[in-house]
Amino acid sequence: MKATYLDPAVGQYLLAHTTLPDDLLDALALETREVTGDRAGMQISPDQGRFLTMITQLSRAGNVVEVGTFTGYSSICLARGLGSGGRLTCFDVSEEWTVIARRYWEKAGLTDRVELRIGPAAERLAELPADRAVDLALIDADKPNYPVYYEILMSRLAPGGLILVDNTLWRGRVADPTVDDEATRAIREFNDLVVSDSRVTSLMLPIADGLTMIRKH
Ligand SMILES: C[S@@+](CC[C@H](N)C(=O)[O-])C[C@H]1O[C@@H](n2cnc3c(N)ncnc32)[C@H](O)[C@@H]1O
Repeated sequence: MKATYLDPAVGQYLLAHTTLPDDLLDALALETREVTGDRAGMQISPDQGRFLTMITQLSRAGNVVEVGTFTGYSSICLARGLGSGGRLTCFDVSEEWTVIARRYWEKAGLTDRVELRIGPAAERLAELPADRAVDLALIDADKPNYPVYYEILMSRLAPGGLILVDNTLWRGRVADPTVDDEATRAIREFNDLVVSDSRVTSLMLPIADGLTMIRKH
């Protein structure tokens, strides 16, 4: 688990008092490390996973969208929070990584509620039907396209709906004036866009690498 922005001892304590992931999520995390090596760092952390399941349950979201599925960890956490009849639509560009996600959806008994759309999300998200409002979305894909994903999802989001965005603290680099690389600039610009958007209320949470919670008015 990651508690990037806490004193390490406090972080350890906090994580020791958060419900642990089950065996299926542990097995997925292990296989992801074995198969993808360093790329496994892209996977959300178990405490974020716990948060995703809880927020899906608490918001009673029925139509959920995920942008950036990788090997499936966050999608399983979202799908597990859905009530009966709820649906999760996942977008990712990679067949190679999502083949693992599909296998774990099967093991988790979630195939009836999860759908995967492969291709560049900026194009495929536009196919979401305009007449079925999205209740909750997670953005966790390529950072420069965050504003594109945000705008498309805002156009589909129900009033009171939520968008969650991962990595918005970017290991603290967003707040370091000596850092000026392309990825950091992209995250800063996205964060500035959200906080000045009068259509929403936003809250940046220091969970893992920063998770912004955005509620549409
Ligand atoms: C940070 S990982 C997602 C991690 C995932 N949420 C998890 O918990 O394991 C980012 C994912 O975005 C996908 N991605 C990158 N560029 C994309 C694009 N243009 N369209 C759709 N997906 C993209 C990658 O293939 C990768 O699987």
